[in-house]
Amino acid sequence: MVRVQGSPLLSLLLVGLTLAIFAVDAFTPLDVAIAVMYVVVVLLSASVWRRRGVILTSAVCLGLTVLAYAFSHAAMFSGPASGRMVVSLAAIGIVAYLALRWQAATNALIAREEALHRSQSQLAHVTRVTMLGELAASIAHEVNQPLAAITTNGGASLRWLNRAEPDLDEARAAIGSVLEEAGRASEVIRRIRALARRSDPRHLPLSLNEVAQEAARLVRRELASHHVSLNLDLAPDLPQVCGDRVQLQQVLINLLMNAMQAMQHCAPGEALLLLQTRIHEQGGVVCSVADTGPGIPPEHLPKLFDAFFSTKEEGMGMGLPICRSIIETHGGRIWAGMPPRGAMLCFSLPVTEECSA
Ligand SMILES: Nc1ncnc2c1ncn2[C@@H]1O[C@H](COP(=O)(O)OP(=O)(O)OP(=O)(O)O)[C@@H](O)[C@H]1O
Ligand SMILES: [Mg+2]
Repeated sequence: MVRVQGSPLLSLLLVGLTLAIFAVDAFTPLDVAIAVMYVVVVLLSASVWRRRGVILTSAVCLGLTVLAYAFSHAAMFSGPASGRMVVSLAAIGIVAYLALRWQAATNALIAREEALHRSQSQLAHVTRVTMLGELAASIAHEVNQPLAAITTNGGASLRWLNRAEPDLDEARAAIGSVLEEAGRASEVIRRIRALARRSDPRHLPLSLNEVAQEAARLVRRELASHHVSLNLDLAPDLPQVCGDRVQLQQVLINLLMNAMQAMQHCAPGEALLLLQTRIHEQGGVVCSVADTGPGIPPEHLPKLFDAFFSTKEEGMGMGLPICRSIIETHGGRIWAGMPPRGAMLCFSLPVTEECSA
């Protein structure tokens, strides 16, 4: 069920307004259709209460209109007063009907928007898992490295302990390294699990520099195996942004992977990637990923963020549209820059004092 925004203060105001209209209608000798003012109550109730509340409010308003008429004209029948009452009743009825229709349409719209957000986040999740699949080999290597170090240090500590005169200091140092490497391995697994998990986006205050470093760490090996060198130029004192860490990591990994793929034909040592963060002149923060690949032809720019636009044989054309939907739900903007060489994809995020969701 879709919730309608409500506030106790507005509810109180509505009750007060209803009573005030009734008092004027019943106890003052004004010859005007005061009861028509109940339409304001009905209209406001539609933005405070649900359907049942609006029906009840309308019924109360209709009842009070009749009651006020009975009160003020009980002694003597008045044609004009009866006419005014009928007009008021009709107005309240029509407005109640329209308010209910409006409320139903608004609720349907909100429900559709929520469904759209849900499918967008599901799509983002599916592509994130696909992306992890592409990175599987380098991730396995990333985990394997500390495991190898654990084996070496474990063996060494056993040897130190098995000596005729055990060297406890050396054994202790080797076990310390085992623990350190185990921590590294579980940190890699934690990062992968966070990316693979399907959870609703959670917007929290975070440092874009940290997100950039984490994303770089995840693709570092993949980049190295493609002879791409990555440089990070992160602005110090970058203000925090409000965002979902996993989704923003996904955006950065997408941009880094695109850049890496674009540079596949670069001569050795010429495939350079620069990941920068900086404060935007108009407020907010900007992150850019620049490469030394062939760049983006101007005729591709208008459809770059369209779903299924891809120039790659195996490309799905979903990377950039998903980046755009993520950045836009963060209140930011994503665009392709115009560097003198290669391509540059940038996105901006607003700096917010408080995180709402
Ligand atoms: N750094 C870049 N340099 C040159 N072209 C790029 C770059 N980044 C994106 N593009 C172009 O934009 C297109 C769309 O990118 P997008 O990430 O949306 O899809 P894709 O990489 O083709 O497929 P996938 O869905 O697997 O990511 C790419 O096919 C490529 O032509
Ligand atoms: Mg891509």
